[in-house]
Amino acid sequence: MSSSIYHVLLSLLCFMLQQSSLAIKQARSHSFGQNAESVANSHYDLLGPYVGGIEKAKEAIFYSYNRHVNGFAAILDEDEAAKIAGVWPESKSFSDEGIGPVPTKWHGTCQTDTKNLDKFQCNRKLIGARYFSQGYEASDEYKEVNNTTDLHLNTARDYESHGTHTLSTAGGNFVPGASVFGNGNGTASGGAPKSHVATYKVCWGPDTSCYDADILAAFDAAIGDGVDVLSISLGGGDGDPDYFQSGISIGSFHAVSKGIIVVAAAGNYGPDLKTVRNVEPWTLTVGATTIDREFNNYITLGDGQVFKGPSLSESGLPSNELYPLINSLDAIAKNATAQDAIQCQYGSLDPKKAHGKILFCIANHGEYTIDQGVEAVRVGAAGIILADYDFSWTSILLEPHVLPASHVNYTDGNNILTYIKHTKSPVATISRVKTELGIKPSPLIATFSSRGPNYMEPAILKPDITAPGNDIIAAYSEAAPPLSGTLDQRRTPFMILSGTSMACPHVSGIAALLKVVHPDWSPAAIKSAIMTTAIVEDNTGGPILDSSLKKATPFDYGAGQIRPNNAVNPGLVYDLDTTDYLNFLCGRGYNSSTIKLFYKEPYTCPESFNLADFNYPSITIINLDSEHPRSVTRTLTNVGPPSTYKVLINEHRQVETLVEPNILIFKEKGEKKKFKVTFKLRPPLKEDQSHYFFGRLDWTNGKHHVRSPFVVQNPNA
Ligand SMILES: *[C@@H]1O[C@H](CO)[C@@H](O)[C@H](O)[C@H]1NC(C)=O
Ligand SMILES: *[C@@H]1O[C@H](CO)[C@@H](O)[C@H](O)[C@H]1NC(C)=O
Ligand SMILES: *[C@@H]1O[C@H](CO)[C@@H](O)[C@H](O)[C@H]1NC(C)=O
Ligand SMILES: *[C@@H]1O[C@H](CO)[C@@H](O)[C@H](O)[C@H]1NC(C)=O
Ligand SMILES: *[C@@H]1O[C@H](CO)[C@@H](O)[C@H](O)[C@H]1NC(C)=O
Ligand SMILES: *[C@@H]1O[C@H](CO)[C@@H](O)[C@H](O)[C@H]1NC(C)=O
Repeated sequence: MSSSIYHVLLSLLCFMLQQSSLAIKQARSHSFGQNAESVANSHYDLLGPYVGGIEKAKEAIFYSYNRHVNGFAAILDEDEAAKIAGVWPESKSFSDEGIGPVPTKWHGTCQTDTKNLDKFQCNRKLIGARYFSQGYEASDEYKEVNNTTDLHLNTARDYESHGTHTLSTAGGNFVPGASVFGNGNGTASGGAPKSHVATYKVCWGPDTSCYDADILAAFDAAIGDGVDVLSISLGGGDGDPDYFQSGISIGSFHAVSKGIIVVAAAGNYGPDLKTVRNVEPWTLTVGATTIDREFNNYITLGDGQVFKGPSLSESGLPSNELYPLINSLDAIAKNATAQDAIQCQYGSLDPKKAHGKILFCIANHGEYTIDQGVEAVRVGAAGIILADYDFSWTSILLEPHVLPASHVNYTDGNNILTYIKHTKSPVATISRVKTELGIKPSPLIATFSSRGPNYMEPAILKPDITAPGNDIIAAYSEAAPPLSGTLDQRRTPFMILSGTSMACPHVSGIAALLKVVHPDWSPAAIKSAIMTTAIVEDNTGGPILDSSLKKATPFDYGAGQIRPNNAVNPGLVYDLDTTDYLNFLCGRGYNSSTIKLFYKEPYTCPESFNLADFNYPSITIINLDSEHPRSVTRTLTNVGPPSTYKVLINEHRQVETLVEPNILIFKEKGEKKKFKVTFKLRPPLKEDQSHYFFGRLDWTNGKHHVRSPFVVQNPNA
């Protein structure tokens, strides 16, 4: 059996309509939040001594935390394009070995381009490819592009790699011996390795912008082509003002009303609250977590101190040999500035001073450091130590450096610097990269993962779920360098990337498998199964933490971390159909012409709609005060054999939770049972109390646990 996964090929964060420059600004201000100043001050301490004063140091500092987030624009020159054209599948992940025939319901196409001589070929794995660029070509942004020949507008080929990576994560075939420059060697496969996949390319230009017109056209085509699951790893940088103003909202409504499951990335605007994107109740919105694997190498200094740093270097230095260790400022080229030399910028170092040595350089936090390695190679250095100048070490980027290189955190960087300063002939070595498994605690909520509450409709909890999205190895386009925008011109068939874009296709793959096992389930039933079987404990048995090691909440993980095996057999589901979603729009006050954007047939709104009874698999109560308890109702559908369920409540001490009835007896499969939950605040509330209280309902028959998170907001806490 097989199922088709569809994938809208795009960029990590594509910006819709005219919002792009605004979105970048917003993303940057979200990255550091209130701590920006103290973090920055700590940088000056480290950097200051190098550049002769705090003021100079301030000038040298610039953040580009979101560079890995804002999309990669890799453009090939003609020669390189000629080398790869015709080569298809680009990746072994899209080989159709062992894949069944193309389903007869498939109406899609493999859109080829004669202008580019790009022989784009599909097979039984990659069964379709289309591209949509008219919206972009009509934009002001496009008019300002001076050379349009390098935009690759007439091909579905992925010149940028985000699409290849996410598509292979969802549905890539088995590929033995897959590694990133020798690291993480193993068999790669997508979530649904036997599925068929198709790609819909909608993002264009140097800023990888995705226009609503193109997004809607892609949804339309995908629905017509006969897809089962859509995996949407894109979203607006700015939140869309309302559902009817969002191409993804409208497109995904049409898809879901045709029985297609839509899975979407939550966005990379964390860790600030209220940053989650793709907040439609009809989509499954996915945040990102770390996994229990790290790639580290070890620096050993002459005095025996050992430091660990994340790295994907292909090689290490011999462990029995120590190399001279030099502060890069001491290897400055005659014509270079001190700022450039301390950061090992290209052309800033003198080969005569650096040759054969290990360089100590300052890394800009959140910036790729590949280019510093390229400079180290240029001057003949043996290795490079990059010292971060932000102390939030959990977000050091893992990079495939071009020579033995290790990237340490702020504290360790300071210690190494102290050793260099106080030692007559400082020496060091850098080990090969070790793959470290069973890292605890994991999963952690990834720093960048966007958080709730839902800015558009606070009564619907978002994100819905989390999945692995940090340091994910998947197929890569050989049209793009490992990290675009760097001087590294190598190619790699597999690469590590991080983002909610990487988390989203994990869930898409699982949704595709559920669709195979339960072809009659609605998108909402599949979503419910994935949510109610999620876990909120990590591999130490304690609660899931965020990357600063604080206890995570449903605003970080929704229902929790996916557990694919449990999702296949959830026991009960919270179902919803198109009418429910239309009533939800009615509840927002949408008139008939606005509703027509979502649903072509005329629809008459009911007299009244109570969001409290909208059958969502999570519960959010906003503005609950001490005087007025509030109730919600939910309906469970039995998808297992006859069984009796009773409810377990994990409540916050400040919230009294009453479930009626507290036992549900299901006599047959498909039977529906309603229950009511009443929430009441337990005064007194402390002055400094959080505005939000969290808990969980758990319907269990001993074998199954059908769990729903709840969030209660008290505006006066
Ligand atoms: C195109 O060229 C014009 C005039 O030289 C310049 O102002 C504009 O910024 C360029 N556009 C881009 C996208 O580089
Ligand atoms: C435009 O870009 C293409 C592809 O990168 C290049 O071959 C061509 O020389 C460029 N043309 C101009 C006028 O810069
Ligand atoms: C990866 O592992 C396979 C099988 O264990 C081995 O044959 C291959 O050489 C390894 N590749 C690399 C790059 O380490
Ligand atoms: C300094 O001079 C060298 C050699 O001429 C050159 O390659 C390098 O780009 C120059 N660096 C700067 C920062 O100008
Ligand atoms: C820096 O990394 C070391 C491990 O190499 C760790 O012990 C230390 O806590 C980290 N420092 C900070 C500020 O996170
Ligand atoms: C329907 O709602 C939209 C969006 O609020 C508004 O622009 C439009 O004027 C309304 N149409 C009617 C007929 O009220």
